[in-house]
Amino acid sequence: MAISSRPQVELEKTYNAAADHYDHPAVSFWDRYGRRTVDRLPLSASMAVLDVCCGMGASAIPAAERVAPTGHVIAVHLAEKLLDKGSRRATEQGLTNIEFRRADLESLPFPDRTFRKALRGLVLPSSQIAGRLSTDIANSIASKRRP
Ligand SMILES: C[S@@+](CC[C@H](N)C(=O)[O-])C[C@H]1O[C@@H](n2cnc3c(N)ncnc32)[C@H](O)[C@@H]1O
Repeated sequence: MAISSRPQVELEKTYNAAADHYDHPAVSFWDRYGRRTVDRLPLSASMAVLDVCCGMGASAIPAAERVAPTGHVIAVHLAEKLLDKGSRRATEQGLTNIEFRRADLESLPFPDRTFRKALRGLVLPSSQIAGRLSTDIANSIASKRRP
């Protein structure tokens, strides 16, 4: 998928550059808060879950654990290097129900109602990103009407 609009290109470059240090103990809060967030969500086995802005899986990996064995998680982000790290971590943990995929949250490549839940872990409400990730987008993906 070609991602050419300017902010996304800058974000992709920035997070690819940061990827080598993304699992440094100084930023272990991503994992801590990601897991605690998922602990509080009503996820259950067999759900299809989308995690946008997934980083290296801070919330996507705990979500995959929760919806196993029949549910699955698709985790999307712009930076390939973070996605690779997330994918490696999931494999190391023996998870087979999670896929890390490069995608722009503003043009997600999934039909409506593909997912039961959409997560946007640790995307700050005051940030430019959160503004773009509108409730409209989340609702069109995670229809509440699906069982
Ligand atoms: C505050 S961080 C969220 C951290 C993430 N949940 C984690 O566990 O590491 C916001 C993330 O959203 C990503 N992002 C921003 N705009 C995006 C877009 N249009 N599509 C996909 N990801 C995007 C950024 O690259 C950044 O990693």
